[in-house]
Amino acid sequence: MSNSIKQVKHDFSAAYNQKWPRAYFDAHLSLDYVIPDRAKPVFERILAEYRRVRNKTNLKIIDIGCSYGINAALLRTNLNLDDLYAAYLEPGGPLSRVDLMEHLAFFRNRGLRDDIQFVGLDSASRAVGYALEVGLLQAGISANLEARDLTIEERCDFADADIIISTGCVGYVTAQTFARVYEATAATRPWVISFVMRPYSYGDIAAALQDFGLETRHIEQFRQRQRRFSTPAEQHEILTTMTKCGIEDQVERTTGYIYASCYVSSPPGEVLELSSMANN
Ligand SMILES: C[S@@+](CC[C@H](N)C(=O)[O-])C[C@H]1O[C@@H](n2cnc3c(N)ncnc32)[C@H](O)[C@@H]1O
Repeated sequence: MSNSIKQVKHDFSAAYNQKWPRAYFDAHLSLDYVIPDRAKPVFERILAEYRRVRNKTNLKIIDIGCSYGINAALLRTNLNLDDLYAAYLEPGGPLSRVDLMEHLAFFRNRGLRDDIQFVGLDSASRAVGYALEVGLLQAGISANLEARDLTIEERCDFADADIIISTGCVGYVTAQTFARVYEATAATRPWVISFVMRPYSYGDIAAALQDFGLETRHIEQFRQRQRRFSTPAEQHEILTTMTKCGIEDQVERTTGYIYASCYVSSPPGEVLELSSMANN
């Protein structure tokens, strides 16, 4: 992450590691954070493509930076992110109370699908613990893999994955984390789908995945809205960096939102029919 962006980027970190997710949803709604919602249909299309190519039904997904299990909640139910914002934040909403049984029942009653299993990785141990306790994750790993290697037990949790996903986390994690996760599950050659806040670079992560034989494509049609700029200073710094990097910033300038690029990595022989998917 460029140092100048680091200095002005909105700091959500106080909400990352609470016992309950309410502060996270509150902080993120205030900047209209929508990337998990915008990413959901893209993930679903690529998951369908993966099932077609690999002829598989049941999928194991690793979510890097899983937080409170938000991508798992969206992909394992028919809920959208507004449903979650309302459930957690509306006074009297079904997830507004500090009651684990109610949270468990909420997700169970939404018919959590069993054909998609999630293993979450996040440095925030309480967030991972919540996602595990309410049944969104089958396994949760609370670790900073920028700083240390995986334990044998953690490697077992990651083994046999089909897909690795990430939203809103590249920048906090680098190629180091992706390489460590991939190495633990490389035998099944999972695909990797990342949404990366512009203008962060994905070059080092793509290079690390190339060492495992994956080809990475930047799918421009899948660029999605992430959240509103938090301040004029943040907007100025991000737009200036984009200009310096030669990245077209028209959508950011006109909408006042930060966008995320989508990168998909897969083994070269596995051809994704992405052009037809993007036009659906
Ligand atoms: C903006 S949140 C994104 C969460 C979720 N993926 C979403 O889109 O709602 C960033 C997440 O990255 C996690 N994170 C920060 N540093 C990390 C690290 N070194 N390893 C794993 N997760 C990290 C934070 O705890 C936080 O949950």
